[in-house]
Amino acid sequence: MSENKPILRALNGETLPTPPIWMMRQAGRYLPEYRATRAQAGDFLSLCYNSDLATEVTLQPIRRYGFDAAILFADILLVPQALGADLWFVTGEGPRLSTITDRAGVEQLKPVADIHETLNPVYQTVRNLAGALPPEVTLIGFAGAPWTVATYMIAGRGTPDQGPAHALKDADRPVFEALMERITQATIEYLSAQIEAGAEVVKIFDSWAGSLKGDDFDRYATAPARRIIAALNERHPGIPVIAFPREAGEKYIGFHAATGADCVAVDDSVSAEWVAENVQVDGCVQGNLKSSHMVTGGEALVSETRRIVKALAGGPHIFNLGHGITPDADPDNVKRMIDAVRGT
Ligand code: CP3
Repeated sequence: MSENKPILRALNGETLPTPPIWMMRQAGRYLPEYRATRAQAGDFLSLCYNSDLATEVTLQPIRRYGFDAAILFADILLVPQALGADLWFVTGEGPRLSTITDRAGVEQLKPVADIHETLNPVYQTVRNLAGALPPEVTLIGFAGAPWTVATYMIAGRGTPDQGPAHALKDADRPVFEALMERITQATIEYLSAQIEAGAEVVKIFDSWAGSLKGDDFDRYATAPARRIIAALNERHPGIPVIAFPREAGEKYIGFHAATGADCVAVDDSVSAEWVAENVQVDGCVQGNLKSSHMVTGGEALVSETRRIVKALAGGPHIFNLGHGITPDADPDNVKRMIDAVRGT
């Protein structure tokens, strides 16, 4: 059956006449049915840890739009929480965590083997989904990349330039690297458990990779991705991995080969034509429509969508946005994008 799933075919290197499609944050606040289920759960974290409701919100965009993939409903910050960090969300502002600023902070984290105690409900969501999805829809699990997760664990919040994480890296590399190591190990165990529960693909989100420059990019974006992918390939051969080193720019070139990723997801700061020439030559790519088109819609949405489909038609391609859909998006624009991709 799996050979008929369009996403798995593209990840396997096939060039399909119509690219399969899904959307980052496809289960999210732009959908009234998501907002209703989140209200039922009480708050965002309670929704993440309620397997029945997390299953429900994962399925909502599949029912409404018929996407080719469902992405597990969870968050990259559940891993820090499972390692012992305090985590909460401030409405209208975003995540807050206890901070790690020194060796004692790293040493106080829980052992990697203990993360499953916290994360078991997420694996249950994956099991529910594996049994509930239509046969042609692929189930994607995910985790944050070590650098992106570390930026939140160090600063205790999202930061525009990841300043605190860069400062710790530059001031005390051994402590920074001890933290990266702990997150890398936890990520391998977390993604492995998702695969054992039924995830057919996993994606590694490195949202802040673009702020790593030169050698730092190679050491803290490329190398951890390579280690995670190698460990997963060994334990779970045949499970494809999508890597998303957001805003990597020139560093997108060669990222497939450097990490072993089956697909490289690209943001909207590079053109689809450039991606075809420089990245897709090495394998499947995913992206890269500007998510603001989901707010503004109109003719520009349709023409940009068609342009990306055309530019990437010569190789394996999964259509997606360059970053997550925002809460102010119009659900009708998502339908227009899908129609433009599928040519209806
Ligand atoms: O894509 C999906 O639909 C799957 C679920 C998913 C969420 N977050 C749900 C979510 C995924 C894959 C993520 C990844 C994630 N989370 C990333 C990497 C991708 C990216 O966007 O760069 C990051 C950096 C986070 C951390 C995070 N979670 C932030 C910074 C925020 C607040 C910002 C915001 O959009 O509110 C979240 C909250 C979050 N994660 C929401 C959702 C649907 C909104 C929470 C709500 O319902 O109030």
